Amino acid sequence: MAPSLQFCSNSYFNVLIVLSVTMISSVTGVGVNWGTMATHKLPPDNVVKMLIENGFDKLKLFEAEESIMAALIGTDIEVMLAIPNYMLLQMSQDPEAARSWVDANVTSWSYPGGVNIKYVAVGNEPFLRTYNGTYLQSTLPALRNIQNALNNAGLGFKVKATVPFNADIYDSPDTNPVPSAGEFRPDIRDLTNKIVQFLYSNDAPFTVNIYPFLSLYGNDYFPMDFAFFDGSNNPIRDGNLVYTNVFDANLDTLIWSLHKAGYPDMHVIVGEVGWPTDGDKNANIVNSKRFNQGLLRHVLSGKGTPVRKGNIDVYLFSLIDENAKSIAPGNFERHWGIFEFDGKPKYELDLSGLLEDKGLVPVEGVKYMLKRWCVVDPEAENLEDLPNNIDYACSLSDCTALGYGSSCNHLSVEGNASYAFNMYYQVNSQKYWNCDFSGLAMLTDKDPSDGDCQFPIMIDCGYSLAQNSGISDVLLRIAGSYMLYLIMY
Ligand SMILES: *[C@@H]1O[C@H](CO)[C@@H](O)[C@H](O)[C@H]1NC(C)=O
Ligand SMILES: *[C@@H]1O[C@H](CO)[C@@H](O)[C@H](O)[C@H]1NC(C)=O
Ligand SMILES: *[C@@H]1O[C@H](CO)[C@@H](O)[C@H](O)[C@H]1NC(C)=O
Repeated sequence: MAPSLQFCSNSYFNVLIVLSVTMISSVTGVGVNWGTMATHKLPPDNVVKMLIENGFDKLKLFEAEESIMAALIGTDIEVMLAIPNYMLLQMSQDPEAARSWVDANVTSWSYPGGVNIKYVAVGNEPFLRTYNGTYLQSTLPALRNIQNALNNAGLGFKVKATVPFNADIYDSPDTNPVPSAGEFRPDIRDLTNKIVQFLYSNDAPFTVNIYPFLSLYGNDYFPMDFAFFDGSNNPIRDGNLVYTNVFDANLDTLIWSLHKAGYPDMHVIVGEVGWPTDGDKNANIVNSKRFNQGLLRHVLSGKGTPVRKGNIDVYLFSLIDENAKSIAPGNFERHWGIFEFDGKPKYELDLSGLLEDKGLVPVEGVKYMLKRWCVVDPEAENLEDLPNNIDYACSLSDCTALGYGSSCNHLSVEGNASYAFNMYYQVNSQKYWNCDFSGLAMLTDKDPSDGDCQFPIMIDCGYSLAQNSGISDVLLRIAGSYMLYLIMY
């Protein structure tokens, strides 16, 4: 059965949100990305309350999900709302489609006391090299149509359309790898210049995603401390300027590229930046905290980069782990959150940048399913079936913590199997028929977690009647396959 992608709902927290808005006014200037590719999602109202309590004042969303938008009503949180890449073609060809997207997803929330939408992100990294040019033709026309629709709705003065680009749209030549040699990639330079020109004439920002973690990932020669903000063993010299971290070097490569395009004072937003905590040898709590805390301290210090002074506008990537994200780029993709899937902070992080000894406030009111795990039955005999069953369980759940360098890589063969079986059982909301695996598995109420390797219990979304094994389960199963039927045929 496919994992459900519904939200848990818990609307009585609305009351609490309204109270918090009036009581808490600290503004830190830090934004965060909230992606929702998870099998079990936290109730949006509870998450928004947590955002406010922690002082996040900017939020980036990848889609205009109605339940999230509704939870944001009446808050001051500035929202950047994205249009997914699959919609770009339609938005570029049909101004009417752009108009109805803006009507439904921006105008309808933008009333006094509604949602504070400030930016529309048109696409997500549409010029990424791995997309082979799929979105090259549609991005600028879609951007134009969306901004026109915003203008026609009377919102253009306060809602700006922008395009979040990956940092792979600019670089410096290998022969002179310094920021001042930076330029937009030759294959997309003319097009990018036109987009920059459009954004500038519209008073909209240029948005870029910067990932020092990826500089390190797959490049064992990359100097470790250059990825962070607290070391200077490997500085880069660029004329009179000295770079001690790759984030500044990367951002200034963009500033130089904009300079060469004729827009030296273009407003720049860093739309995504962060560090994962699992799924790779460099992805762990210590490195993630070191990076994110160093980043916040740096961007809020006002020192800026060597080329451009002042605070840097950043959106952390990301808020909560997403166990259903594609792992094509790597196992770390499901572990970017500063919060676990259940809204618990992974580590202390001071959002003020002042290095106060201050932890993050968790999401409150989270309900869990039963304390019950699915593991290998020690008495099972047909062990030759183990590998196939592990593969099956992992292909339909999340085994990214088992891989090399990850938190559960130390497990035995049986430990691996238990981990896989449990993940499958949990993402399927603890249905007893999802803990069989050709008779190799059994249920237990003893937590099999092993050191840093956590065997999670999913959050209870209310809609899953996990503890009842009778008629309701059967009805749910029938309803589930009927839905699948509707989707597939
Ligand atoms: C509003 O946004 C949602 C989420 O991206 C999308 O599914 C929906 O089609 C949009 N509405 C319109 C009218 O375009
Ligand atoms: C891009 O091209 C490569 C090589 O031709 C191919 O393997 C890949 O699937 C393509 N990606 C997309 C998104 O079209
Ligand atoms: C457990 O699974 C991981 C990921 O597939 C693998 O790297 C590791 O070698 C396995 N452990 C054993 C003892 O087979």
